Amino acid sequence: MSNILEVKDLNISFDTYAGKVQAIRGVSFDLKKGETLAIVGESGSGKSVTSRSIMRLLSQNANIEKGQIVFDGKDLVQASEKEMQAIRGKRIAMIFQDPMTSLNPTMTIEKQISEPLKLHQKMNRAQSRKRTLQLLELVGLPEPEKRMKQYPHQFSGGQRQRIVIAIALACNPDILIADEPTTALDVTIQAQILELMKELQEKIDTSIIFITHDLGVVANVADRVAVMYAGKFVEMGTVDEVFYNPQHPYTWGLLASMPTLETATSLYAIPGTPPDLLDPPKGDAFAPRNEYAMKIDTELAPPMFKISKSHYAATWLLHEDAPAIDPPQEIKARQQLYMKKFAGRHNDGGEQ
Ligand SMILES: Nc1ncnc2c1ncn2[C@@H]1O[C@H](COP(=O)(O)OP(=O)(O)OP(=O)(O)O)[C@@H](O)[C@H]1O
Ligand SMILES: [Mg+2]
Repeated sequence: MSNILEVKDLNISFDTYAGKVQAIRGVSFDLKKGETLAIVGESGSGKSVTSRSIMRLLSQNANIEKGQIVFDGKDLVQASEKEMQAIRGKRIAMIFQDPMTSLNPTMTIEKQISEPLKLHQKMNRAQSRKRTLQLLELVGLPEPEKRMKQYPHQFSGGQRQRIVIAIALACNPDILIADEPTTALDVTIQAQILELMKELQEKIDTSIIFITHDLGVVANVADRVAVMYAGKFVEMGTVDEVFYNPQHPYTWGLLASMPTLETATSLYAIPGTPPDLLDPPKGDAFAPRNEYAMKIDTELAPPMFKISKSHYAATWLLHEDAPAIDPPQEIKARQQLYMKKFAGRHNDGGEQ
């Protein structure tokens, strides 16, 4: 499969009164055509900044210090605002956490979905109406013909997020970036939107970047997972590799802190807090929270070690001289649970 996006050694800082915040510190990844990549990490790890940089929607005080964002052969870091306007919403679309802020309360749904169609695709009224209906059906909004004449406040939160997804997909983008699209919704609606994302993944050929702080939702939605910590990708692999053979102690912590299926609450939290990105540590940023940290972790940031052709992790534990460490027992118990839950998916589908 060919790559639609290649991010290479991206470094982004923010100017603040307290100094320069080193928010993104050497992020590299690629996105293949049609795949869903999940980016997972705690609050402040840099998920939104990474995704907004692809859309070139960073705030005024942001600096792209270094790196490339190659989309369809073109480096978006060097693109002009005019070039970005032709890409945004048309070839790369983004949906956010809170559907209400993305919708215009004074416009009907039909008008909001047709706008990008008229603007980017030069569709006439009949064409855009047809496409609007098709999109609302695709995202599972009931009675689309009647409901497209209504306004955002006449819909529930989950329905609004479906509408936002329909708008994002209107021009058939190459990439859809979903930044925590379910966080503002209640749990049952979250599950429905995740189910929709999964269905869409099968029906359309758009590549998806799915951002979440909840590793629990990833297995069902994504093909690959990138785990982010303090402005870096610390582990990257297929869903199977990251769930069943996690290598980074931070990934172990995330796996252990997933809510259990029975209680829906988490029994474990990774101790400590992320580093201050005004003055990032010179070694492994996770070292102070890592019970397996070694001397080198405080001195030198680990490179990405290769585990397989799709699986990488940045931890000195993978160095050939490091002691062999088994993930904690807690992780193994969690893996068993998830193996059961996702048995259908991981056994080539079919039975539960
Ligand atoms: N406009 C800004 N000015 C200064 N610092 C910023 C700005 N935007 C983001 N940052 C910093 O960049 C880092 C990454 O932020 P980002 O919003 O990408 O985190 P996130 O992983 O999306 O977190 P969350 O899960 O809370 O959404 C944080 O340390 C944040 O404080
Ligand atoms: Mg965010």
